[in-house]
Formats: sequence, structure tokens, C-alpha cells
Amino acid sequence: MNSTAPIAIDSLDATNFLDIDMESETLRQNAMNGMLAEWAVRKPFYARRNGLAVAVCARAKDVREVYTHPEIFTVIAPPYDAYKVFDIFGGLESVLQMDGERHARVRRLMTPAFMPSGVQQLENAIDTIIKEKLDNIAAMGAEFDVMEHFSRDIIVRVLLEASFKLTPEQQEVFSRMHNSMGLATEFEPDKPLPEEFINTVVAVRKVIDEIVAERRKNPGDDMISHLVMARDEGRGLNDEELFGQINSICAAGLGTTAATIGGALYILGKHPEQLDLLKREPQLVDIAVEECLRYHGPGINTFTRFTTQDTELGGVFIPKDMPVIASIQAASYDPEEFADPLRFDIRRSPRAILAFGSGPHFCIGNRLARLIMRKAILKLITRFPNLRLADPNFKPVYTGFPGELCLTKLPMRID
Ligand code: HEM
Repeated sequence: MNSTAPIAIDSLDATNFLDIDMESETLRQNAMNGMLAEWAVRKPFYARRNGLAVAVCARAKDVREVYTHPEIFTVIAPPYDAYKVFDIFGGLESVLQMDGERHARVRRLMTPAFMPSGVQQLENAIDTIIKEKLDNIAAMGAEFDVMEHFSRDIIVRVLLEASFKLTPEQQEVFSRMHNSMGLATEFEPDKPLPEEFINTVVAVRKVIDEIVAERRKNPGDDMISHLVMARDEGRGLNDEELFGQINSICAAGLGTTAATIGGALYILGKHPEQLDLLKREPQLVDIAVEECLRYHGPGINTFTRFTTQDTELGGVFIPKDMPVIASIQAASYDPEEFADPLRFDIRRSPRAILAFGSGPHFCIGNRLARLIMRKAILKLITRFPNLRLADPNFKPVYTGFPGELCLTKLPMRID
């Protein structure tokens, strides 16, 4: 490990430097107020993250370039202590932090668990879970909070209960793990990882080892059995890899799906004429969800990439070992790909949205996520035809991992 940061801020072209901290709360809370749309039409620029120099790209073609060229823009951080802040998995094996043949092999072994037939099998369970949520909302009275009473719980139950088939006690340990993931990024050079994070990892590891041993003996049709049984050239995922990937699925699937259901309902609520159109023509739900994902995806950006060599992106020099942040949300407002990008139009039917990324790390859970979103939104508006924002002037406040755009709350009315 090298303790110094590799790129000195004053070694970069100062005229292309924006005085922004990519991890700051001010950025997160203001990003959706036009800032990302401005980035979408400018060439890549330099900024900071926690005092480190980073390159940021936001035009759709630059973002695709980064995602589709892992040999130049890799997810594997070079070995600098200062770069440990980018490791949200705290050193655990994750498909999201592998590239090349290693990534391809693990991804191939994960694929059977995400086949369309497996996703379709979950349909009845998804319907039941959503119905229970809607019954609870109906019993609560006129107002409910989308985040607390609807979106978060739906994805937690679909994934942990219906898909992984965990007991309530096992689900509790997984939820704790998910909640403490962000702690790994609070790393300080020369200090160990936060104790709470380590304790949770130990607890979840014990549970996962038990489940894996049990599914090896009695495989079922659940997602963990598919991961345990998958073989590539006769070889499956070992225990370490299974642990890493089960964790990665939770880290990648829970917050994002909760955030995008919340984001979709917020944007629909903010555009009552579009919400009414969807109520009148519910068959538009598939393309409406695509437009919601474009307009308000899960976050400003996803996982940071690192340059493996001196390179150029969109005409801008990026030195070797530099962190590169590709903004999928800004790219969704790029007028080169989405005409009049700030117009929210559920009939738009946007092609090749970037909310699920692109290239080798393209979201493996996108079919499941889309199915859940379509059902959740359709069933909510059908059951409560008067659904609307509780406050038409609602001001969103966001939370989540660095760069994530998950609403803290979204009050809606149904009376
Ligand atoms: C609407 C909800 C979701 C959104 C917007 C979303 C978005 C994304 C994005 C942008 C990536 C690429 C990250 C990168 O390249 O840096 C990704 C990867 C991934 N997603 Fe999703 N995701 C969603 C739901 C899910 C669900 C429900 C699951 C699993 C049940 C899941 C599992 C994964 C996994 C395992 C990866 C890593 C794939 C790889 O590295 O090869 N996601 N997701």
C-alpha cells in the first residue's frame, strides 16, 4: 500500500476544474435542481472527492465509454491507502469490484439465478407482498410515507423472504449488514475498519455459511440455491465467493429499488397530468417506468472506475490511476440521446436508458427490478385512484450511499 494520493490536484488543468466535492451533502441535495442537466452537455471535468482529485463525466457517450472499456476504466482501485474510501465492501469479494476474466466467470455463475424464468416464478410472491402493503396503507388512513410504508419493505421482502427464502431471524441479520455497509467508507488510513462493520460481517458470514451448507444438501428453487449449484467448466463459486456475491446482491438491489420506486412516485406526483394519464391508461406502465428510471434513477453515479493508463476521455486528459466518476443521472439528461431531456413524458419510451449502467457490469437484477417497479406503481394507482403528493410543493431530501438519491421520505395522500 502506498499512503500518498497519486494525483495532485494542482497537477491538473485548473481551467477544467470545478470546485465541487462529489461526496458532499450539498451536492446530493442540489444535484436534481438543474445541476446534472448542465453537466450533461459539458466535457469531462476534474473535481474532488474527500480531498482527492477525481475526473467526472456526464455526457451519455462519455459515460458509456467508461462503462464499456474496463481495460482502461477498471473498478479495481489501485493500491493507495487514500483510495480505501472507494471500497464500500470493506475488502469483501464482490462482483462489482472485479474485472476481466475473473468478473466474467463470477458473472456467468450468477446468471442462472437471474434468468427470466426465475424472475417470473417470483410474480405471485411479489403480488402478495404488494397487496399486504396496500392493505396496511388503506388501514392507516388518508396519508402514508412511500419510503417507510411501501418501497423499502417491498424490495427487502421480495429479495430476502421470497427470493432467498430466509427465516425472519436471518433476514434481520442481513438488514443489519445492509445498513452498516456505508461504514466501510469511513476508513481512516492506519486505522482498522469500524468495529460495528466487522461485527456485522462476522454475524452475516455465520448466517450465510449456514444457509449455503443447507442449500448444498437440499437445493431448492430459490436464488441462493441457484448460486450454490451453478457450475462453469465443472467449477462453482467457493464459499468466499458465495458470501461476497450474496452480499453484493443485497448491496446492489435493496437501496436502488427502494430509491427508484420512491423517485418514480415523486416524479409522477410532481407531474399530476402524467400521473392522471397513467391512471387513465395503465397499459402505459412499462414505458412509464422506463421514463421514471431515466428521469429519476437510483443515484448521481454508481461505482468509481480507475484509469489503468494515461488516457483521454471526451477530449480531456486523464492520468493513470485517477478515479473516474461517471454520472448515470446526468447522462440521462443528455439532449444528444434524449430530446428535450427535462420534459417528463411517460409516453416518451426512452431507448437505452442508463439507470442500470452499461457494459460488463450492467445490472444483473434489472428484470426483477423492472417487474417490481411496474407492479408496485400499477397496483398502487389502481387501488388508490386519488393518489397524489401530500404537499404539492414537497421538497425532496436524499440519503443513502455516497452518490445515491434515495428519498428520506415521500408523504402521499389517498383520500
Ligand atoms: C431499480 C433498481 C435497480 C437499479 C436502478 C440498479 C442499477 C444498477 C447499476 C447502475 C449497476 C451497475 C453498477 C456499475 O457499473 O457501477 C448495477 C449492477 C448490479 N445490480 Fe442492480 N440495480 C437495481 C436493482 C437490482 C436488483 C433488484 C438486484 C438483485 C436482486 C441487483 C443486482 C445487481 C448486481 C449483482 C450488480 C453487479 C453486476 C456486475 O458487477 O456484473 N440490482 N445495478
